[in-house]
Amino acid sequence: KTPIAILISGTGSNMQALIKHSTTHPESSYQVKLVISNKADALGLIKAQEAGIMTKVIDHRKFKVRESFDREIDTLLLENNIEIICLAGFMRLLSGWMVQKWHGKILNIHPSLLPSFKGVNAPKQALNAGVKVTGCTVHFVVEEMDDGAIIEQRSVRIETTDDVSTLQYRIKLAEHQIYPTALDQVAKGLASLDDKENKV
Ligand code: GAR
Repeated sequence: KTPIAILISGTGSNMQALIKHSTTHPESSYQVKLVISNKADALGLIKAQEAGIMTKVIDHRKFKVRESFDREIDTLLLENNIEIICLAGFMRLLSGWMVQKWHGKILNIHPSLLPSFKGVNAPKQALNAGVKVTGCTVHFVVEEMDDGAIIEQRSVRIETTDDVSTLQYRIKLAEHQIYPTALDQVAKGLASLDDKENKV
């Protein structure tokens, strides 16, 4: 199974979904070996420990330059023979150095149908825009924020009664369904950034 690491900053519900899929589907092609958080108080760290996964905290505030933070992450990844990185609510931008070094090996989940609503608070952006449908996207990470080739998407209807928290909740349910299967595809070699680059 392909050893993967998950980078988080908070709740870690997508992280949990990735872990759960791999432990409940024997045919899954990846294994979560390491969870890294840039925040010591991220709730996801406790959930990862409960699941028996190794956790590390690397506080980004200790580094003057983004690349030094990334180099520390990179060292940990190499020490643990990690092959794929999944960002799951990781609220830091990775440096060009990191993204190039791990070209085609970093996945992200974003709470909108990209290329709409990039950046922070995507569910709120969708509500403010008055769209009737939004959703979530799993994509390869490139240097430009929320811009890599798309691996999988799922739509979520916006109801007139929705506020940010009800919408965010339903988007997360959709995220938990598509992230593990998208990762499986990449780990199996069925989806790669280079294939997708050639197609577009
Ligand atoms: C998820 O909805 C994810 O798509 C979003 O943060 C949430 C993390 O939740 N990511 C971004 O907005 C990235 N720009 P989780 O910690 O429960 O997985």
